Amino acid sequence: MIVTFYLNDVQVSYLVKPGEYLAETLRNHGVKSVKVGCNESSCGSCTLLIEGKPMMSCSVLTASIEGKHITTVEGIQEEAAKISRFFSNEGADQCGFCNTGFALTIYSLKRELKNPTDEEIKDYIVGNLCRCSGLYSHLKAIKAYLKEE
Ligand code: FES
Ligand code: FES
Repeated sequence: MIVTFYLNDVQVSYLVKPGEYLAETLRNHGVKSVKVGCNESSCGSCTLLIEGKPMMSCSVLTASIEGKHITTVEGIQEEAAKISRFFSNEGADQCGFCNTGFALTIYSLKRELKNPTDEEIKDYIVGNLCRCSGLYSHLKAIKAYLKEE
């Protein structure tokens, strides 16, 4: 089947298998920034935005996104570079495998929640795991990023 959608505001049409998941489709078409860790909705490394909301693309059927807008980290490059600097400053950036998923979740968090508490931030990022560093350094980096105008 052919599925047509908007990838970072560019219309694309891909031939996909029934039952194919979006992470696989995008990676098959060269979007390697979408990382696949657990492949079962548990780690958040495959996070991207669908209509502006963070979703785990390893569990979204490509057939279900016909006509929708998908944002990967390539679509938020400037903000992702900022987030990366805050992560580096706090030691939250180590192997980097989780970074693109975190960047998209945090980008969305900043737009959705105004002056979130630590608990609200933790709740928002609960689906994104980092195997290298603890949550504490991420929390510090996120709070610094949220303070930036
Ligand atoms: S690869 Fe999708 S949640 Fe882990
Ligand atoms: S920096 Fe390695 S998994 Fe997060």
